[in-house]
Amino acid sequence: MDEALSLARKLAGTHTLSDGELLALIRGRGPETAAFLREAAAKTARSVFGREIYLRGLVEFTNFCRCDCRYCGIRRSNGSARRYRLTPEEILAACREGHALGFRTFVLQGGEDPWWTDERLCAVVSALKGEFPDSAVTLSVGERSRESYARLRAAGADRYLLRHETADPAHYAFLHPPGQTLESRLHCLRDLKELGYQVGAGMMVGSPGQTDECLAADLAFLRDFRPHMVGMGPYLSHPDTPFAGAPDGSAELTLYLLSAVRLLLPQALLPATTALGTALPDGRERGILHGANVVMPNLTPPEQREKYLLYHDKLSAGAECAAGLEELGRRLRAVGYEPVVQRGDSPLMLTGKQS
Ligand code: 5AD
Repeated sequence: MDEALSLARKLAGTHTLSDGELLALIRGRGPETAAFLREAAAKTARSVFGREIYLRGLVEFTNFCRCDCRYCGIRRSNGSARRYRLTPEEILAACREGHALGFRTFVLQGGEDPWWTDERLCAVVSALKGEFPDSAVTLSVGERSRESYARLRAAGADRYLLRHETADPAHYAFLHPPGQTLESRLHCLRDLKELGYQVGAGMMVGSPGQTDECLAADLAFLRDFRPHMVGMGPYLSHPDTPFAGAPDGSAELTLYLLSAVRLLLPQALLPATTALGTALPDGRERGILHGANVVMPNLTPPEQREKYLLYHDKLSAGAECAAGLEELGRRLRAVGYEPVVQRGDSPLMLTGKQS
């Protein structure tokens, strides 16, 4: 049996691998190992979550950003991005619509927009928690101070998504301008965990300069940090960034790694991401069949949604939007899964085993 396949078997049995084994699993990938990983990951996801798929209502509430990530379409230096910022009332209205549709988690995602001070963001979070006490609020607004994270948590925020992007410091420096460091990103992730958030990390697959060693470092980081959630999608290039013209990341490799992450972290909340849905027509379904258990339809008002362009051709219609929820349900049921009206908390939180 080839080495990668025997490592995949070991991963499925023990839910861990050493750094060197993770690298060999990535380097030695092939159709047979991929099929084994997919089946083992889907089985593991079913043993933890059954056939239930958690829904998150995504509200992309600002595309102003002070960061200049070289891969991202809403980077500060992109003068062609049409900027928008929803008002607090517009955010609440989007969530109200989502709640009526059955969403019990709202993900407020945005660029690092200085207009959104702690005071303003806390006010929105507490208004949401006041109006929808049965729902979870997830924030995804980048790097802030520990005090800021503490205030937002006290205002009621339950979860926080902050992808680590790459666990290799040199690769991080290649993807970001000098002021942005992996060290600072990891510091934020540790703060968020200590403050009691359910925390999401994650990376793009196939970003410029990424090697198999980088991906092995990502898996080792996830294995050790044990985030509650892992967001992972293919890198998709954007024409108005320094990486314009760089090839897109591989959807196949993304699926392979999704399965590996499910086996490393059986309890993790793992979305079939928008980027995966953009890269493949049936990306959402294939993500689920490779071990994902979450989908995040878009609740952003349509006029603004098309301006939140992290990469080219980003999906924003059809099953991506709330109005397409029925279609999404049909598509999930067609592959044997069922979207559910639930907060969908991390099982790690429910059993009190946070680390
Ligand atoms: N391709 C794919 N994903 C991207 N992101 C940002 N730019 C791109 C891109 N060009 C991802 C980053 C970020 C998340 C919100 O979107 O990983 O954390």
